[in-house]
Amino acid sequence: MVFNTYAYPFLSAIAIVMIFSHAALAFDILDPTGNITIKWDVMSWTPDGYVAVVTMTNFQMYRHIMSPGWTLGWTWSKKEVIWGMVGAQATEQGDCSKFKGNIPHCCKRNPTVVDLLPGVPFNQQIANCCKGGVVASWGQDPSAAVSSFQVSVGLSGSSNRTVRLPKNFTLLAPGKGYTCSQAKPVPPTVFVSPDGRRRTQAMMTWNVTCTYSQILASQHPTCCVSLSSFYNSVITPCPACSCGCQNNNSCVASGSETIRSVVGTNRSTLNNAPSIQCTEHMCPIRVHWHVKLNYKEYWRVKISVINFNYQVNYTQWTLVVQHPNLNNVTQVFSFAYKPLVPYRSTNDSGMFYGLKFFNDVLMEAGPSGNIQSELILEKDIDTFTFKEGWAFPRNIYFNGDECKMPLPEDYPFLPNSAHLNQIASLTLAAFLLLTLLASW
Ligand SMILES: *[C@@H]1O[C@H](CO)[C@@H](O)[C@H](O)[C@H]1NC(C)=O
Ligand SMILES: *[C@@H]1O[C@H](CO)[C@@H](O)[C@H](O)[C@H]1NC(C)=O
Ligand SMILES: *[C@@H]1O[C@H](CO)[C@@H](O)[C@H](O)[C@H]1NC(C)=O
Ligand SMILES: *[C@@H]1O[C@H](CO)[C@@H](O)[C@H](O)[C@H]1NC(C)=O
Ligand SMILES: *[C@@H]1O[C@H](CO)[C@@H](O)[C@H](O)[C@H]1NC(C)=O
Ligand SMILES: *[C@@H]1O[C@H](CO)[C@@H](O)[C@H](O)[C@H]1NC(C)=O
Ligand SMILES: *[C@@H]1O[C@H](CO)[C@@H](O)[C@H](O)[C@H]1NC(C)=O
Ligand SMILES: *[C@@H]1O[C@H](CO)[C@@H](O)[C@H](O)[C@H]1NC(C)=O
Ligand SMILES: *[C@@H]1O[C@H](CO)[C@@H](O)[C@H](O)[C@H]1NC(C)=O
Repeated sequence: MVFNTYAYPFLSAIAIVMIFSHAALAFDILDPTGNITIKWDVMSWTPDGYVAVVTMTNFQMYRHIMSPGWTLGWTWSKKEVIWGMVGAQATEQGDCSKFKGNIPHCCKRNPTVVDLLPGVPFNQQIANCCKGGVVASWGQDPSAAVSSFQVSVGLSGSSNRTVRLPKNFTLLAPGKGYTCSQAKPVPPTVFVSPDGRRRTQAMMTWNVTCTYSQILASQHPTCCVSLSSFYNSVITPCPACSCGCQNNNSCVASGSETIRSVVGTNRSTLNNAPSIQCTEHMCPIRVHWHVKLNYKEYWRVKISVINFNYQVNYTQWTLVVQHPNLNNVTQVFSFAYKPLVPYRSTNDSGMFYGLKFFNDVLMEAGPSGNIQSELILEKDIDTFTFKEGWAFPRNIYFNGDECKMPLPEDYPFLPNSAHLNQIASLTLAAFLLLTLLASW
């Protein structure tokens, strides 16, 4: 292939933009302070250590922790052991052969801890535990954005001068996208009794903050965007290889009932077997944005999210959209909507999520593996246009990960304005007719 020399500055500009936008993913402009904070409250001292309540709060607006949940790890500073846990468990006991009689729950120098599954006996529970490690995002449900467990630590020192803080925290949630800070001593937490009449205080408290980076989480995007409009019959597909390319054994042929039944029944092969339907884009999730109707003062968009993963039911999914007209959302059908205003002066972004018991689960790939919504936006006369792809989203995130967009030159284009007006008035007429029919 021969490049015209004049193309180089343009190409390198694109490359720079791409590198820059990739790097920028580590910092989430729509949720700049989003983090998961892990707080250790030492509640009491014991003869050889302490009992702490560990509380994980997901302050991220739209990135939740989905099944199979979080795994928290750390490294002890000294020779600490875990005598017992309530509401969680260490995944491995490690070598406790030094102990006679009373055997610790875990003797590993770098324990890894997981939440218990729902339905454990009450005496093994504490508040906010036992949800299989599933934690909602703050924007969706702050009351479900917390996960807690209690840990009894021995051989650790038993005063605020002798305790050494654990080091090197790691959080899988469930992928490896999070990086955690050092534990930092903070003012002891003050607890207020439910009736508000008594205040108690932790003996000692330290915080760890974990932040997400999409690049750490996965090499490729995990979702892509396709586009269409009423004013052009072209459907712009997701870019090819958006989420990696097809190779042998990396995907499941669509409609392949045999493979699907294997995937569905033999759980022991789940970890190795491919679970993504073979497509040009190879993404587990495709988001389709259809500019559906043009009214005089409003316009209407249909959003669909399609699951291509045969092994995942996406519970508590979220969809974040950036579009300049989101400052004027008039109505959203079938999804919950929340503007992401606090951090944006332009009010151009918002989050969509499912309605409980209706569509808060995006089912595994197949006939029911999709969800849909329509929204009506009020046109701002000064900026609204169908030209130059203005009606298409600037960015879309599914479950907090940025989706791959088509290149602007591939967007469905506006044929010409005369044509548009014709279509628009036809559409309007059709809409009026439908409304008339519907009201009968
Ligand atoms: C973590 O998130 C909370 C809530 O948004 C914020 O107040 C806090 O400053 C954040 N912490 C860090 C270290 O970013
Ligand atoms: C340890 O606890 C004592 C008594 O509660 C308190 O006065 C002291 O400031 C604490 N020291 C540290 C390092 O937190
Ligand atoms: C913590 O991690 C750092 C860097 O990964 C490593 O150098 C250090 O040895 C680790 N500390 C412990 C106590 O494992
Ligand atoms: C420690 O974390 C808690 C959230 O669990 C937060 O409310 C508190 O402000 C944090 N403390 C500091 C000093 O960041
Ligand atoms: C796919 O497998 C076939 C035979 O098993 C092999 O010849 C071919 O090179 C493989 N292709 C890729 C892309 O791995
Ligand atoms: C599942 O797959 C494994 C390995 O391929 C095989 O040994 C096992 O018999 C299969 N189990 C069922 C129930 O088909
Ligand atoms: C998804 O949910 C449906 C209905 O609850 C269930 O039958 C199916 O096994 C689930 N799929 C996975 C991969 O968990
Ligand atoms: C739409 O935006 C315009 C200008 O930005 C504003 O005056 C108007 O109140 C907005 N309409 C709605 C429904 O928010
Ligand atoms: C964004 O929304 C907030 C609250 O709805 C409003 O106070 C603010 O004026 C809006 N900003 C812009 C630039 O529209």
